[in-house]
Amino acid sequence: MELKVTPSFEQSGIAVAEMFAKVIRQKPDALLGCATGSSVVGVYRHLAKLHREEGLDFSRVRTVNLDEYAGLNAEHSQSFAYFMEEHFFSQVNLKRENIYLVNGDSPDLQAEVERFNRFLAENPIDILMVGIGTNGHIGFNEPENVFSAKARLVQLEDATIQANARFFENESQVPRRAITMGTQGIVSAGTVVLIASGQSKADAIGQLLQNPNADPMLPCSIMRLCRDAHVVIDEELHRAAQPGKAG
Ligand code: GLP
Repeated sequence: MELKVTPSFEQSGIAVAEMFAKVIRQKPDALLGCATGSSVVGVYRHLAKLHREEGLDFSRVRTVNLDEYAGLNAEHSQSFAYFMEEHFFSQVNLKRENIYLVNGDSPDLQAEVERFNRFLAENPIDILMVGIGTNGHIGFNEPENVFSAKARLVQLEDATIQANARFFENESQVPRRAITMGTQGIVSAGTVVLIASGQSKADAIGQLLQNPNADPMLPCSIMRLCRDAHVVIDEELHRAAQPGKAG
């Protein structure tokens, strides 16, 4: 697992976008694994800039997202589908048929999970970006006694509901369930890049950097099992994540 410490959050976003751009230039039909959340907004902003200013071509690029809230449709302003449309899909020349999204509003969520698992089994991800939750979750893989390999419908932890309430009018509006990619989809990716910033992530990042083992109680430590894993954080978070500082 490689650590990259950048001078600022903005530089972290640029660094991750440049890693994605390199993959796209080498493999124009690459499958990108996409994440949502405030941590990845800068990555999409820079990819859009590379498209506008340098002609980075997404016409054959494919995408798949990590997760989606259960019960929100693509028109809901807090759905991850809406986020992707706003920050990425509408900003580059991706083709609709090359975008895979989980339908969180499906009347049959179990069938939706199975569709997602089939897609992941048939389509290896070339490069995947992930943010983390304050409890160290990746996608919506919450701390558990064992790693869950498959994509599935999960119950969100109270800590996650509270952390994500900032995007909703109030906490009661945050969906209690979500569909998430499991750890198999994450470790199967050619490259995995974790981007994080802010004091609230210091504890999880500190644990990840200090412990060389994968521990399902710290879901982001699955990075330890990925063949080409990169952690991109800014200096401020790196300082806060030093032993004795976090928590
Ligand atoms: C949600 C997503 C995660 C993401 C996390 C971080 O919980 N399911 O995939 O990593 O948000 O969000 P932010 O970057 O806004 O802190």
